[in-house]
Amino acid sequence: MGLIRIRTEIPGPKSRALMRRRDAAVPRGLAHSVPVFAASADGVCVTDVDGNVYLDFAGGIGVMNVGHGAPSVIAALREQAERFAHVGFAVLPYESYISLAERLAALSPGAFPKKTLFVNSGAEAIENAIKIARHATGRPGVLCFEDGFHGRTLLALSVTSKVAPYKLGFGPFVSDVLRVPYAYCYRCAYRAEYPSCEFTCVDQIEDQFKRHADPRTIAAVVVEPVLGEGGFVVPPRGYLSRLAALCRRHGIILIVDEVQTGFGRTGRLFACEHDDVEPDLLVTAKSLAAGMPLAAVIGRAELMDGPVEGGLGGTYGGNPLACAAAHAVLDLFESGELLRRSEAIGSRIEAHARLWARDCPLVGDIRRRGAMVGVELVTNHDTRAPAKHETEAIVRLACERGVILIAAGTYGNVVRFLTPLTISDDELDEGLKVLSACFVAATSQLAAR
Ligand SMILES: Cc1ncc(COP(=O)(O)O)c(C=O)c1O
Repeated sequence: MGLIRIRTEIPGPKSRALMRRRDAAVPRGLAHSVPVFAASADGVCVTDVDGNVYLDFAGGIGVMNVGHGAPSVIAALREQAERFAHVGFAVLPYESYISLAERLAALSPGAFPKKTLFVNSGAEAIENAIKIARHATGRPGVLCFEDGFHGRTLLALSVTSKVAPYKLGFGPFVSDVLRVPYAYCYRCAYRAEYPSCEFTCVDQIEDQFKRHADPRTIAAVVVEPVLGEGGFVVPPRGYLSRLAALCRRHGIILIVDEVQTGFGRTGRLFACEHDDVEPDLLVTAKSLAAGMPLAAVIGRAELMDGPVEGGLGGTYGGNPLACAAAHAVLDLFESGELLRRSEAIGSRIEAHARLWARDCPLVGDIRRRGAMVGVELVTNHDTRAPAKHETEAIVRLACERGVILIAAGTYGNVVRFLTPLTISDDELDEGLKVLSACFVAATSQLAAR
């Protein structure tokens, strides 16, 4: 017996009624991947307001790596809520913030002294990392990447690359941003082939320094070790270490954005560990605190200590409830079992995706690091024309059949997997079987075009 239970048409009557209220009360700028409303969640399942039960392959956009309702997280939250919910670290500090900073400094790559700042969201952490880099170098510029996503606040948006919907109508953006192609081998900007290219995309940055920006004006390189929103693009091993070397050559601070890759998603706690890279500043969020709003900038102590007293902060950053949840999450990762599962889950998904590729002409590329798996869909293998409509159809059909799924990619044509790492093989297989049927249905849609 599986876990999925679909009792109504999707969306069910209660979800439809809520959607009407939502349309009247909430701006349309907030999008939803699926049209159903959540009532409860447990483990790898989400139940909607009509009583339908889904397998959650989205994890609230990569937030629920330890699963919904982990008992130790709930106990930690309850215990903290009974003591105090908020005093403001800038007013009255508390121990859990400090011990969490100590733990993250010990767990993150690099044996050098580190300090950690807590804020509320990935975007806010990126803002702070860039501010810290500018302060340390006295330089204004930031180098970022095509197809990168770093959040929706104005500085984070300025280093984000997708126009619609993220940037549309929100300019002007921050100046002194240099944007270069990422190691997106399936759509290489230089039409080169890996490995014979020997990382043309990194070498070309030196050329950009001649044509567009003096490297002595660049404070930071901001990079995702695997592109998240940009389509789960996995660069070849060695890419990140070459970027790190480029940064060292020019005195540029390396900010690695681990908001989506972080906390075990790629089989290591942080994805930059795969390349043995020790970032100057590492940004993490999402699965760090199992759904509590918490993000961190972990960095070299001398950089983190640059801004004057009061130069960093915020009312809620490192809220005690969020810190309590994060401590419980770190405890859950301690044994290493979740990291081992991450690799096993990823390889199981990849094996299914390879079968889809055999039978389904839509599958253009399969990419994976740990459990971070992306399947890029195209309508034509020669032109690699993005299959956006078919990807949307798969996401919709999956929901109707009991799997919550989200897409990614600049062209919206990548199916991505962000299941909790607590998912069992049986649960995973149940969801993947549903998706196999959705891929078949989307293929007939393509044929009917
Ligand atoms: C790599 C990356 N950076 C930054 C962000 C922004 O995080 P938040 O939505 O918490 O502001 C995201 C969100 O998806 C992300 O994937």
